[in-house]
Amino acid sequence: MTKPLTKIRNICCIGAGYVGGPTMAVIADRCPFIKVTVVDLNEKRIAAWNSKDLSQLPVYEPGLDAVVKRARGRNLHFSTEVDLTISQADMVFISVNTPTKTKGLGSGQASDLRWVEACARQVANSAEGHTIVVEKSTLPVRTAETVQSILQASQEPKDEQTKQKTFVVLSNPEFLAEGTAISDLESPDRVLIGGEDSEAIEALAGIYKEWVPAEKILRTNLWSSELSKLTANAFLAQRISSINSVASLCEVTGADVKEVAKAIGADSRIGTKFLNAGPGFGGSCFKKDILNLVYLCRHFGLPEVADYWQKVVTLNTWQQDRIARLVVKKLFGTVTSKKIALLGFAFKADTNDTREAPAIRIAKDLLEEGACLAIYDPKVDAKQIETDLTLPPNYVLADKSSSPKEINNAEGIWWPSQNVKEAALGADAILILTEWDEFQYLNWKEIAPLMRQPAWVFDTRSVVNANAVKSTGLRLWRVGDGAQ
Ligand code: UDX
Ligand code: UDX
Repeated sequence: MTKPLTKIRNICCIGAGYVGGPTMAVIADRCPFIKVTVVDLNEKRIAAWNSKDLSQLPVYEPGLDAVVKRARGRNLHFSTEVDLTISQADMVFISVNTPTKTKGLGSGQASDLRWVEACARQVANSAEGHTIVVEKSTLPVRTAETVQSILQASQEPKDEQTKQKTFVVLSNPEFLAEGTAISDLESPDRVLIGGEDSEAIEALAGIYKEWVPAEKILRTNLWSSELSKLTANAFLAQRISSINSVASLCEVTGADVKEVAKAIGADSRIGTKFLNAGPGFGGSCFKKDILNLVYLCRHFGLPEVADYWQKVVTLNTWQQDRIARLVVKKLFGTVTSKKIALLGFAFKADTNDTREAPAIRIAKDLLEEGACLAIYDPKVDAKQIETDLTLPPNYVLADKSSSPKEINNAEGIWWPSQNVKEAALGADAILILTEWDEFQYLNWKEIAPLMRQPAWVFDTRSVVNANAVKSTGLRLWRVGDGAQ
C-alpha cells in the first residue's frame, strides 16, 4: 500500500463552471505552492478562462478577474487535457453538473449522475499512485458510495509492472452563492469536509487552513456532509417561500412585507438575512436540491416529509405564475400586443447566470398571453435569453425603437434592449425581475414621459423609490405592499 500523501502539491478539478472555476482560482491564489489545473471537456469554456481579456472569463463574479490575474499562469491553469492532468494530481475535485433527470427512474426529481460517474471512471483509469477524490458537486446522499466502488474496481494492479493505485473519497460541498462567490470563498462561514480517512481529511483541511480559521473547518462523516449541503439549500429556499407566502398575505391585508420582515428578523433566532420577498427563487441549486431531498424521502418511505419539502417548490412556482397573472390583470385583463419592458433576466443581481431564473417562467407566461417584451439585463446576452425562452428575438421591431404603433398587431414576441430607456419607450408597463443596482437609481422623471399612459411599474424586488415613481403619475405595484 502506498502511504497516503499528507501534503498536496498538485490539484486537478474536473469542471470549469460557476463552482469549479472560482473555487480553484481562490485555492490557487491562497496556496501558491500548489499547482491547480482546472479541466473541462468544453474547449470553448477553457479558451474563455484562458482569454487575455479578463472581461471575457466565462463566469461573471465581482473580484474574480483580480484573483485570476494574480494566479493564472503562475500556479493556476485551465486545460482540456483531462487524462494527463488527472495522472499528475494528488487530489482530484469533481465539480461537474448534476442536473435533475428528465427521463427514466426518478425523472423530474433525482439528479442525473451520468457525468459524475463518467468522471469517476476517468479518474479510475488515469490516476497514478494515491489520489484523494473530492466531491464538490452537490450530490444525492450516498453518491460517494458509487464513486468509491468505481474507483475500487480499478485498484487491483493488472500485472506486476503496473503501480498500485489507491483512492480515498471525500465530500467537500460548496456553499458559495453566485454574485458573492469570491468573498464567500475567501471568508466562508464554514468549510465542510466529510470522510472516513483522517489523513485525507487533514490533507484537505490543510489547504483551507492557509486562509480559513481552524474552528470554521468542520469534519463529519461522508453522509452527513452530503446531506448537510442539501439541507442548507432546502432551509434557505424554504425561507424564501415562507416570506413570499407572507408577501401575498400582506398584499390583501394592508400589511407591508418589508415591515414584517424587519420585525421578525429582529428576533435573533430568526435573523435578518434571506427575508426579501421577490419573484421566487432561481439558480442552479435550490430547486434541484429540494427535489433531490424529496426523492430521497420517498425512496426511504417518508412520504409526509417528502410532501413537506415539495411544497417549498410548489409555492415558488405559484409565486412566479401569480406575478404574470397580476401583470395581465392590472393591464385591463389583456397584454396582447402590449409592450412590456422586462428589466433583469439573471436569477439574481451580480451574475450573468439565468439557470431557473424566475424571469424565464414569467416571460414565457406573458408571451403566451401575447405580450411584446423588450428585455434588458446588464449582464445577460441575447443569445442566452433566446436559449432560455426557446424563441428567437425579433430584431426588426427592435431596430424601429418599437413604439406601440410599430408593434401594431405583433404578439408574443421579444427583443433585447440596450438600456432601460430604450426598453421603456412606448411601453405600457415596466416589470423589474432582478435587483440590479442600476434599477434602484432610475430617473423616473425621464422614464415616465416615454411610456404609454396609463402606465405601470411592477417591482417584484422592492428596489425602486416608491415616492419617486408615484410622483411622476406612474402606477406602482410592489411585492408584498398592502397599502397600494
Ligand atoms: C455544478 C453543479 O451544477 C452543482 O450541483 C455543483 O454543486 C457544482 O457543479 P456549476 O459549476 O455551476 O455547478 O456547473 P456548470 O457551470 O454547468 O459547470 C460544469 C462544467 O463541467 C461544465 O463546464 C462542463 O463542460 C463540465 N463537464 C461536465 C466536464 O468537464 N466533464 C463532464 O463529464 C461533464
Ligand atoms: C445558493 C446558496 O445560497 C449557496 O450557499 C449554494 O452553494 C448554492 O445555492 P445561489 O443560488 O448562488 O446560492 O444564490 P442565493 O443568493 O442563495 O439566491 C438564490 C435565489 O433566492 C435567487 O433567485 C435570489 O434572488 C433569491 N432570494 C434570495 C430571494 O428571493 N430573497 C432573498 O432574501 C434571498
